[in-house]
Amino acid sequence: MLLLFATALVCGDCHQAIADRWKRSPMANSSGLVQAAGESAGTLRRFSLAVKKTGDVLQLHWPEGAVDLTHFIGSKRMGRSYAFLYQGNLFQAPVGYYANRRLWDLPPGYERDPHPDFKRPITAECLGCHSSDTARPSGIGCRSCHGESDDHAKLVNPAKLASRQRDSVCEQCHLAGAVRLSRVASTYQPGGDLATSVEVLLAASRPGVMVNSHAEQLKTSRCKQGAGDKLSCLTCHNPHSQAADYNAACLGCHAKPHKPAGCVDCHMPKSRAQDGGHTVFTSHAIGGTVPVRDLRSYFGRTPSNRDLGMAYVRLASQTNDTTLLEKAWPLLRDAAAKQPRDPELYATIASLLAAGGRKEQAVAYYQLSLRQEPRQPGTLRKLAELTGEGKYRDAAERLLPLPKF
Ligand code: HEC
Ligand code: HEC
Ligand code: HEC
Ligand code: HEC
Ligand code: HEC
Ligand code: HEC
Ligand code: HEC
Repeated sequence: MLLLFATALVCGDCHQAIADRWKRSPMANSSGLVQAAGESAGTLRRFSLAVKKTGDVLQLHWPEGAVDLTHFIGSKRMGRSYAFLYQGNLFQAPVGYYANRRLWDLPPGYERDPHPDFKRPITAECLGCHSSDTARPSGIGCRSCHGESDDHAKLVNPAKLASRQRDSVCEQCHLAGAVRLSRVASTYQPGGDLATSVEVLLAASRPGVMVNSHAEQLKTSRCKQGAGDKLSCLTCHNPHSQAADYNAACLGCHAKPHKPAGCVDCHMPKSRAQDGGHTVFTSHAIGGTVPVRDLRSYFGRTPSNRDLGMAYVRLASQTNDTTLLEKAWPLLRDAAAKQPRDPELYATIASLLAAGGRKEQAVAYYQLSLRQEPRQPGTLRKLAELTGEGKYRDAAERLLPLPKF
């Protein structure tokens, strides 16, 4: 143990200037423990919710009770979501702070709920993008981009990687697409190729599909289509320094511009209302966009039937367009014919069958999914709902007790 401590690399010991600057960056402060002193109180009258500061504790009150808001996600550059602990697990609070409007409101994803609930767990997925530690909100640290090793020679410098590996470093968090699917339990490490761990599908924008991302906008821009690997996030951003000369980046490729300066003011406009935090604020579709038809892989490959089918199901729930489920069905049935070990696939098929009123078959597919992976509280709850059997609900509660308020 002592030996491990003695040899562990503390980045800031030798890279102090970088570490000091990093500490103040939005990414470093993208999650952590709530400090009440830095928060403001407020109310959401519509829902009889109030955020109060009691000593050094931030609390969410409603007519029948209260919880401590102990953790946050979001640096408040645009906004912040909050979390509370219930029996050892973190859940999202149904309130968020919006920096530009300086007020409390429902957080992204709760807008359409008539009664904002307390039952949404903070997932490892959330933390995978907002923290270097997927078990605990603690901000993004050096290892998310440089890798983790006590052997300095094994750390990577993103700027020196081949283009696909270089771009993967930022894409691990800045790429959403219309649908993002894990292919294998998240195995990405800086220096690797993200395409081996996730599939990301781009869609022609359609009503209801709100989330977009910087990497996908850049990818479909005329500049990127023309410049290829030469153009990357690092052309304009150095994550360690907030100062950047964006116009100089344009001039690097457009040597004789029609205007002397101010390129980004006109060619990378900002959208007016930016609330959620998961859409692009500054347009990265520089020079216009090459249109995307139907669903297409960001990585330029032909998506598998499984991934395409899962994507249609996700899109259907985002857009309420049930014709997409009809597109999904033959693709998923084909994927299942090979009988892979794929609990998520079988649970999705089950939900389609349940939606189509084929209860018996749906139950069989839910059970198949659970045989492959018993630790699925969400799937257990759906099965409980479908069958009315309490044993499934009890099993779900044992895995992840949901707040009773
Ligand atoms: C004992 C001192 C020391 C520690 C501790 C240390 N480094 Fe370094 N690091 C150096 C030196 C020296 C260089 C080479 C000189 C330079 O490029 O500044 C370097 C270079 C780098 C480079 C550039 C490598 C390249 O090929 O371009 C990166 C990235 C880096 N360090 C990251 C880290 C990270 C992340 C940590 C913590 C996990 C860390 N370092 C810990 C001393 C250290
Ligand atoms: C795929 C990566 C990813 C996942 C998963 C993700 N986020 Fe984000 N989030 C981002 C990125 C990147 C930003 C910065 C803005 C952008 O690119 O859209 C952001 C921005 C935010 C912001 C605004 C931060 C600010 O200072 O403006 C909040 C709040 C937030 N996310 C909360 C959440 C919560 C809560 C979850 C889980 C339910 C979550 N995010 C899941 C990547 C992710
Ligand atoms: C969000 C991703 C990201 C994080 C987190 C990050 N870096 Fe970097 N780092 C980069 C990129 C990208 C480069 C290459 C910059 C370039 O040359 O354009 C880099 C370069 C470096 C270099 C070598 C070049 C230089 O600028 O001196 C060192 C050393 C370094 N980082 C240390 C650190 C340390 C220490 C931390 C944590 C305190 C850290 N980095 C956190 C992305 C990151
Ligand atoms: C581990 C996930 C993660 C990685 C890796 C990552 N980012 Fe971020 N980045 C975020 C999140 C989350 C935010 C929003 C932070 C907030 O405000 O809460 C963000 C914010 C930013 C911002 C806006 C704030 C600022 O610092 O100016 C820029 C620019 C940015 N990232 C660029 C990059 C680039 C370039 C890379 C690749 C070298 C990268 N990021 C890698 C998650 C990540
Ligand atoms: C790495 C090189 C590179 C960088 C950096 C770059 N571009 Fe481009 N850009 C290109 C290429 C290549 C094209 C495609 C030219 C073509 O199709 O004739 C292009 C296309 C464009 C177009 C569309 C031209 C048309 O004919 O419709 C505009 C506008 C544009 N860029 C503006 C900018 C601005 C503004 C910046 C800085 C924010 C920028 N570019 C940064 C390489 C770059
Ligand atoms: C041609 C230059 C350029 C490139 C390339 C570029 N960005 Fe940006 N980015 C900008 C500008 C300009 C802003 C706005 C900065 C500001 O307002 O301070 C910005 C802002 C951002 C922000 C803050 C949120 C927002 O939308 O304003 C994030 C996050 C970000 N960029 C991520 C990325 C990522 C990830 C990549 C690579 C996929 C990338 N950028 C590539 C120029 C660029
Ligand atoms: C006052 C707004 C404005 C400013 C400032 C501006 N542009 Fe443009 N630019 C336009 C408009 C409008 C067009 C024509 C429509 C289009 O292609 O987007 C254009 C067209 C272009 C084109 C394609 C046609 C051509 O002339 O080749 C490029 C490349 C370009 N701009 C680059 C730049 C660069 C680089 C800068 C900064 C040095 C810049 N622009 C500054 C508004 C502006």
